[in-house]
Amino acid sequence: MESASIPIGEVASRAGIPASALRFYEAEGLIHSERSSGGQRRFHREILRRLAFIRIAQRVGLTLPEIRDALAKLPASRTPTKADWAQLSRSWRPRLDAQIATLERLRDRLTSCIGCGCLSLQACALYNPSDAAATLGTGPRYLLGNDPGDLAERVPEPPRRPRRPRRRGPGRRAPPR
Ligand code: FES
Repeated sequence: MESASIPIGEVASRAGIPASALRFYEAEGLIHSERSSGGQRRFHREILRRLAFIRIAQRVGLTLPEIRDALAKLPASRTPTKADWAQLSRSWRPRLDAQIATLERLRDRLTSCIGCGCLSLQACALYNPSDAAATLGTGPRYLLGNDPGDLAERVPEPPRRPRRPRRRGPGRRAPPR
């Protein structure tokens, strides 16, 4: 297994990530480097796998804190093994599954009503009448995991009429207090 440390320029070139971004990732605690005797950043070759992970995770919309939390599960003092990556994968699976479900909804629903409040499509009158989806929360509710069926559970009660005071007859007095 190749384990030599490599300079930042070589990492940037192989990963396709600018050196400035590598320095940013390091400042954000996502990756770590060592310093050569001349003060130059040097990375272990396994950094390329971590960088690939960061890059793809960002591409599918995960945030830096999420990525940092995931990478924190890997050992810092040695090259992660297959078992280490498997453990990370298991812990991240629910998050990735949710992301995949969102992307699938985006792909499948973009020509239909997404419950965003715009009411600009004919379908909105059926799926989001009078923007009822707003009762489920903010944003495009049908891309964020709600379904038009959820509206049925939240049909607002009709407003109550204020009670009118009873009229007393002309000969009746109010009871003494
Ligand atoms: S698409 Fe926006 S409310 Fe229907």
